Amino acid sequence: MKRTRVCDLLGIDYPIIQGGMGWIAGAELAAAVSNAGALGVICPNAGIKPGDDLVENLRRQLTAAQGLTAKPFAVNLALAEPAVKEWVEVVIEVGVKVVITSAGNPATYTRRLKEAGLKVLHVVASVKHARGAEAQGVDGVIAEGYEAGGHNGFDELTTFVLVPQVVGVVGIPVVAAGGIADARGVVAALALGAEGVQMGTRFVATHECLAHPSFKEAIVKAEDTATVITGRKLGPTRGLKGKVTAALLEMEGAGASRQELEAFLGLNRSRKGELEGDLENGELYCGAIAGMITGIMSAEEVVQSVVQGYSSVVAGLS
Ligand SMILES: Cc1cc2nc3c(=O)[nH]c(=O)nc-3n(C[C@H](O)[C@H](O)[C@H](O)COP(=O)(O)O)c2cc1C
Repeated sequence: MKRTRVCDLLGIDYPIIQGGMGWIAGAELAAAVSNAGALGVICPNAGIKPGDDLVENLRRQLTAAQGLTAKPFAVNLALAEPAVKEWVEVVIEVGVKVVITSAGNPATYTRRLKEAGLKVLHVVASVKHARGAEAQGVDGVIAEGYEAGGHNGFDELTTFVLVPQVVGVVGIPVVAAGGIADARGVVAALALGAEGVQMGTRFVATHECLAHPSFKEAIVKAEDTATVITGRKLGPTRGLKGKVTAALLEMEGAGASRQELEAFLGLNRSRKGELEGDLENGELYCGAIAGMITGIMSAEEVVQSVVQGYSSVVAGLS
């Protein structure tokens, strides 16, 4: 598989990143991905029990990952979260090599992280934000299209249109995210000028992911039309269709206010769905590519299937 600047930047063999996924991207998944030659990513709230401390949870996850791999792994920090200042210090103290920032302004912590010697990638959903992130000194951007599972940008740009436009304006490496689950998607992303990919939904359906088995099975059963965007006005989010998304869409259609929607969702709806397996009452963040995922694999099998499939996809193009 092609070696790109992303491999050198992150100290990995293959330019594949496992997306950070709130609640369910813990030490075991990240270590398995990193041991397979890609970059594993931990979320601070992975597997957290109700009432547990978010900073201590992150520290526990990082220590566990360090016990499972000697390879580099990353932490995903949502910049709008209240605990982010403390997370940044824990990440530096523990010796993490890479941070992926999202959902906020990269101006706030990029400098601190870079001065401590970490590499910083920032998730963007538009050319404007990619330019801004580069100006703040990040080492690379992850251009995430509207196909992606979880929170999305407001402008509904798909990976196919976003990635080449971002590649056209920044000098730093671009990683493509959203709608990629196999070697064909990786080759397409590299053809668009990306130097790596980030996959989320594909890694939910792995043995090592903390996702509840019912959530993993729901992804395996999902068809092409199984996901939907809710929160188009307040914060677009892609997830599996179900009772909760139907209720949200109905509320949105009836003009519900932000307060009403937030009150309905509460803080832990996605925990309930993704970690506890309450498919009816929980949220299930999931990308549109779920329809192509037909089985639960190990994280190493996911990475290897991409690496091995890559050459035959490329050969088929000439
Ligand atoms: C269940 C789930 C939870 C996610 N949570 C986060 C998150 O907490 N922070 C973040 O930056 N991205 C999050 N994402 C986005 C992923 O990191 C990744 O960019 C995205 O899944 C890529 O698109 P794909 O789902 O088509 O592979 C989440 C995605 C999923 C599927």
